[in-house]
Amino acid sequence: MNAEKNVNILETKKESSNILYFGLDLGTFQSALAASSGLRVNVGSVVGWPKDFISYKLLNKQIVFGEECLKNRPSLDIVYPLEKGVVKYRNTDFAEKREEERVTSAAEELIRHLLSLAEAREGQKIYAVVGSPAKASMEDKQAIISASEGLVDSILVVSEPFLVAYGLGIYGFAIIVDIGAGTLDICRMHGTIPDEEDQRTLYTAGNEIDKKLYELMKEKVSGIQLTPSLSRKIKEEYGFVGEGQETVNVDFYVDGRLETIDIANELKEACSIIIPEICDNIRELVVSFDPEYMGELTKNIILAGGCSQIKGLAHEIETNLADLGSVRINVIDDPIFAGAVGGLVLAQEMPLEEWEQV
Ligand SMILES: Nc1ncnc2c1ncn2[C@@H]1O[C@H](COP(=O)(O)OP(=O)(O)OP(=O)(O)O)[C@@H](O)[C@H]1O
Ligand SMILES: [Mg+2]
Repeated sequence: MNAEKNVNILETKKESSNILYFGLDLGTFQSALAASSGLRVNVGSVVGWPKDFISYKLLNKQIVFGEECLKNRPSLDIVYPLEKGVVKYRNTDFAEKREEERVTSAAEELIRHLLSLAEAREGQKIYAVVGSPAKASMEDKQAIISASEGLVDSILVVSEPFLVAYGLGIYGFAIIVDIGAGTLDICRMHGTIPDEEDQRTLYTAGNEIDKKLYELMKEKVSGIQLTPSLSRKIKEEYGFVGEGQETVNVDFYVDGRLETIDIANELKEACSIIIPEICDNIRELVVSFDPEYMGELTKNIILAGGCSQIKGLAHEIETNLADLGSVRINVIDDPIFAGAVGGLVLAQEMPLEEWEQV
């Protein structure tokens, strides 16, 4: 019996050395990859092609990604292939087939780019765990698998907040709240693989905060020169909710002249739009659970995703949920790589026979 077991372990190890494992978090705003080779890389989820011959001469590249895309916006045809956490064309009624093809190929190019950075050895197989929104449909998951075809040998598409929990070593009772740009995903963990009713995907997340701040500032100051991208940067630097911050002075151009404006009220109002839905959904996930374990859930609520960095958020949610008893909320340290690292750990620990070949 023991001898048989040993043989199996050796075989698995031998096979594993020919496999490069990946955790891949394809986000609306940014995508992150963690590889078993030790590589960690993140890139903005945006793809650009030079518009013409002159743009090509300037960039000297057929295709560019992430920050480089945004810097060279005027020279590029730009596509954001992921929307609300999934390959975009599934949710969009494009008038032209050509546009659908552009988005699909942008998603493939983004995945190809991330994988190329990991430099798999000749003959090495690639096994990837890819994060998707908690409530992604079968079609959405299939779109991720299709975009990865030919780029990986085996793939598993798994709920993003579950990956965050797995990466943190949380298998027991907890609620993970992953607040991204396009989606806000919530997952109840209770010692087994979470199913449908343990998961929520909401669409009031970072992008909606940016839009709200943009609208509020346009209303407050006529002639203010502001873009949604600038309002995102302001949120990232100063975003807060709750009490304790009276003034937030930021310089803006107003009709071409630089002015310092106090945006504390508008910023707080915009950042607060995510709170009611977060609290309602946590509450529902708690009260619909076995009462014997409710306390275990509320003691272990974890905020992840880029918007978990908004100052005062954990405290505000705790205060709103105080009637549930003792509520403890923690914010993860590394929102950029938490999902990708969770995916990598899962990829490495998953028995080989569980994988789906592509
Ligand atoms: N320090 C910060 N404070 C507040 N918000 C931040 C901060 N850093 C990043 N963000 C916001 O977090 C969001 C991006 O988070 P994340 O990278 O988790 O999203 P994503 O995975 O790309 O999106 P999704 O999961 O919705 O597909 C953006 O709205 C970004 O502006
Ligand atoms: Mg995300």
